[in-house]
Formats: sequence, structure tokens, C-alpha cells
Amino acid sequence: MPLNFAHRGSLTEAPENTLPAFQKAIDHGAAAIELDVQLTKDNHLVVSHDHKFTRFNKNVTGLIKDYTLEEIREIDVGSAFGEEFAGTSLPTLEEVLDICPESLFLNIEVKNIPVIYEGIEHILLDTLTAYQRTENLIISSFDHVALKKVQDMNPDIDLGMLFYYRMLRPWDYAANSGLNIRSLHPNQVYVDQTFVQESKRHGYEIYPFTVSDFDRYEELIGFGVDGVFSNEPGIFTK
Ligand code: G3P
Ligand code: CA
Repeated sequence: MPLNFAHRGSLTEAPENTLPAFQKAIDHGAAAIELDVQLTKDNHLVVSHDHKFTRFNKNVTGLIKDYTLEEIREIDVGSAFGEEFAGTSLPTLEEVLDICPESLFLNIEVKNIPVIYEGIEHILLDTLTAYQRTENLIISSFDHVALKKVQDMNPDIDLGMLFYYRMLRPWDYAANSGLNIRSLHPNQVYVDQTFVQESKRHGYEIYPFTVSDFDRYEELIGFGVDGVFSNEPGIFTK
């Protein structure tokens, strides 16, 4: 049975990475969701893929790190998607955790590129510990130094290693990294049978991103991936 993730919530039905998007994924019966975390100026965890606001609100200059949580709560990131979402703001991680049932598997991605958030790993682990949410989840990042910091603070947390570009033998890189990696999360464009076989042979689960085409999904499942990240409800509910 694959474990498929609603990527940034159900982002075709509500503004990505917002409470309505996660609620829609939950209502669909998704087994797992993926979300991205960043830090505000006053060190609160908010959920957003982009470091800028401009894709969602052209009037807001600067980066998430330039604004306090109080200020971010006033920034509308919903209207660009649809007027019915006017007034929707970036949620905090805590607000997302509040609506997630314990049974829902989570992938929390530390969005440390291009901004490197000093201390984000510590704040994330403190939050997850306070919410008793250190299990039934994977913390992932393209920033593998961030994964190392998480491991050093809590070796029991499951880690996912993200890869954007095609690499030579990423399973060897993961095995030699000193990290106790549970899963490889490659860009789906270069995942083939060999990639999956080698990843498995080295003991890794494999979750490619982002797979919203049904034929490609079936092909990847045929290769033996453990699941995918998808924007398509018909895939992330499979
Ligand atoms: O975690 C999988 C995927 O979300 C990584 O890429 O750019 O969509 O955050 P991105
Ligand atoms: Ca992500």
C-alpha cells in the first residue's frame, strides 16, 4: 500500500500550504500531507513554500523573515487563488498540527533555501515535542546540514533527504552522509527502475515529488516507489 502525500495540502482546491488546503486534503481522506516551514522575524514557524509573498500578494515586498507573526497574520495570501479565500493568511505550524488527526502522516520540509534560518531545527523540534508529534512523521530538507542538526538534537526523528537535481549514486551519498536517513525524496523526472532498485538495496524508502499525472504515477508504482507527493487528489488519496 503506497503512502501518498497531499503536496502543500490540496493545492488545486485552496491556496497552497494554508489551513483550507490541509483541511481539504484531510476531508478527502488523505493518509499523509506535506508542508514547508519557515521562520518569521520573531522566530515563529509559519507554513509557506516561497520565501517571498509576491506569488500570492503582489503588494507585499520583502521576505517572510522580514515580518513578525502579527504582521504576517494581516497579509492576505488567499485572494489570488479565489475571492472565497480572501483574508486567509499563512498558518503557523501549530495551527496546522491542531487540525491534523494523530493518524495523519506528516512530512515537514525545512525550507532553508535560499534563506538559511538559524535555529529553525531547534524551534521545530521544540514545537513537535510540545505537541507530542515526533512520530508518524518525516522531517525533510534540501538542506542536508539542517537534517544533521535535527539528528544531533533528536536521533529518533525520521529523516527524508530531498534531491532536486540528478546526482550520481545519491544512495551512496546518503549512506556516507552520517545521517540516519529513512527515505530519499528525489525529483520525479529522473526516477527510473534502477534508481528505485538501488535506493531499496541501500535500505531507503523512496518518495518522488511531484507526481500529478496518473500514467507517471502508475509507472513509478510499478518501479516500486513507496509513495509520491502529489497535487492531484485522485493520486494522493490512492
Ligand atoms: O517535499 C517534496 C517537495 O515539496 C519538494 O519540492 O519545491 O515543492 O518544496 P518543493
Ligand atoms: Ca515542499
